[in-house]
Amino acid sequence: MLTNRRFFLTRLIDLAKVGLLGIFLYPPLSFVVSRIPRLPVKVRVRATPEKDLLLVEDDFFLFPAPDGPTSMSRICTHLGCRVNYSEKDDLLVCPCHGSRYATNGKVLRGPALKDLPELPVSYSSKDGYIVTVEDAT
Ligand code: FES
Repeated sequence: MLTNRRFFLTRLIDLAKVGLLGIFLYPPLSFVVSRIPRLPVKVRVRATPEKDLLLVEDDFFLFPAPDGPTSMSRICTHLGCRVNYSEKDDLLVCPCHGSRYATNGKVLRGPALKDLPELPVSYSSKDGYIVTVEDAT
């Protein structure tokens, strides 16, 4: 009976040690992991961009252009919210803190300080348009 109790208490103390270690290691590890750049992801555009028609995908815009479409990240450079297109103003507007960008990605009003990054677009007859989405933060 005494050995069972001792065994149980020893295991409980071991478990507490592991929990404390986790509490102390979690903040520095999560900081380090957040600094590791994510690999770029290739996204196939399902629709074909038509003349004068902007495509809005989850992570990027695809703007029509005379030499082929150009793409821009939708991830706000302030704190990472998704930027929306305002058709009324012909601007890209962040719903979180109100940053505004021109349709070429240039910051017009903060708090964002950096422009929206342009993303590479490639085309193949087999796959159509492919946008390479990189970590924008
Ligand atoms: S996250 Fe876009 S303005 Fe703050």
